[in-house]
Amino acid sequence: MRITALALIILSEFLIGISEAELKVGFYSQVCPSAESVVADIVRNAAKSNPQLPAVLLRLHFHDCFVEGCDGSILIDNGSTSEKTAPPHQGVGGFGVIEDAKAKLENICPGVVSCADIVAMAARDAVALSHGPVYQVQTGRKDGFVSKDKLAERMPDVNDSIQILKQKFIAKGLNDRDLVILSGAHTIGTTACFFMQDRLYNFASGGGPDPSINPGFLPELSTTCPKTGDINARLPMDHGSGDTFDIHILQNIRNGFAVLQSDAALMNDPTTRGIVDSYFGVLSPLTSSFEADFVRSIVRMGRIGVKTGSNGNIRRVCNSFN
Ligand code: HEM
Ligand SMILES: *[C@@H]1O[C@H](CO)[C@@H](O)[C@H](O)[C@H]1NC(C)=O
Ligand SMILES: *[C@@H]1O[C@H](CO)[C@@H](O)[C@H](O)[C@H]1NC(C)=O
Repeated sequence: MRITALALIILSEFLIGISEAELKVGFYSQVCPSAESVVADIVRNAAKSNPQLPAVLLRLHFHDCFVEGCDGSILIDNGSTSEKTAPPHQGVGGFGVIEDAKAKLENICPGVVSCADIVAMAARDAVALSHGPVYQVQTGRKDGFVSKDKLAERMPDVNDSIQILKQKFIAKGLNDRDLVILSGAHTIGTTACFFMQDRLYNFASGGGPDPSINPGFLPELSTTCPKTGDINARLPMDHGSGDTFDIHILQNIRNGFAVLQSDAALMNDPTTRGIVDSYFGVLSPLTSSFEADFVRSIVRMGRIGVKTGSNGNIRRVCNSFN
C-alpha cells in the first residue's frame, strides 16, 4: 500500500516534470554566456531612437504567451493565416528588434538561444529601461511549430467584461491577482484611439460614454480621440505617467482615470477591486509592493505553455520555421 502511494507520487512528479517547463534563471550561462547582455544591449540601443519600444516589447511578450504559450508563435510570417495577422494582435510589434538580437546571437552561439526566450528577455529589459523592477528572467523555452490566426481568438479583448477577463486569465493558469497586476503593465505605453471608440461613443445602448470615466477626464479623452477623428492617433494609457513604470496606473484605475475599458473593468468586481485597493490602504506600503508583485506575476506569465524537449526547437531566424 505504502509502496503504491510512493510509486504514484514519483510517477506524478515525473509527469509534472515532463509536462511543465524546465525553465531556470541563467539557462544560457554556460552555453551562451553573453545571451542576456546581447539582448539587453540591442534593446537599449533601439530604445534610444524609439522611446515607445519598451512598451511594445512588453506587450509582445504578453501576446506571445497567451496564444500557444510563450513559444515565439507570434513571430512567424506565414501568409494570411499566421498568428501574427490575427485581429487581437493588432498593433503588436517589436519584431525587428527580436530578429536583430537573434541574428547577433546566431553569430555568437548558433542554434542555442530560442526566439521565445529572446522575447522574454527583451520584456524584462523593457521594464528595467522604464524604471520598473529589475528582475531575473527564467529561460529555457523552445520555439513552437504552430502559428495559426485562429488560435488567437481567445485573447483578452479590451471590451471583455471583468468576468470574461478573469476566465481568460484562469484558462492560462493566472489568477485574479495576476490579472490586476499584469494589467498594471499599462503603466507604460499608448493605445490607439481605435480601442477607445466604443468606450467613448458607443458604450450604452443609446450611445454615449462609459459612465465609469471620471467626468474630469472625459473632455480630455474625447479631445484626443474625437468621434470621427483618426483612429490611429495614440494616447498614453497611464494618464500623467505613461513613460514610467510605476503604481500610478492603479491609482488612475481607482480614480476613474483608466484609459482602457479593460483596466476600468477591474473596478467592476469585488475581488479585483479589492486587489487594486489593497495597494492604497494605510498599511499598504508595509504589506504590498506593486513592483515585487509584478515580477512574480510576469514570471508566472512567462511559464504559460512553455515548450521543452521535442515539443519545440531553436529557430535559426525568428520569423520562419527551420
Ligand atoms: C487584461 C487584458 C489586456 C487587455 C484587454 C489589453 C489590451 C490592450 C490594448 C487595447 C492596448 C493598446 C494597443 C494599441 O493600440 O497598440 C494595449 C497596450 C499595451 N498592453 Fe495590454 N492588454 C491586456 C493585458 C496586458 C498584459 C498582461 C500586458 C503585459 C504584461 C500588457 C502590456 C501592454 C503594453 C506594454 C501596451 C502598450 C503597447 C504600446 O505602447 O505600443 N497588456 N493593451
Ligand atoms: C503555413 O501556411 C500554410 C498556408 O496557409 C499552411 O498550410 C501551413 O500549415 C502553415 N505552416 C505552419 C507550420 O503553420
Ligand atoms: C470590441 O472591441 C473591438 C476592438 O478591440 C471592436 O472591434 C469590437 O467591435 C468590439 N466589440 C463589441 C461587442 O463592442
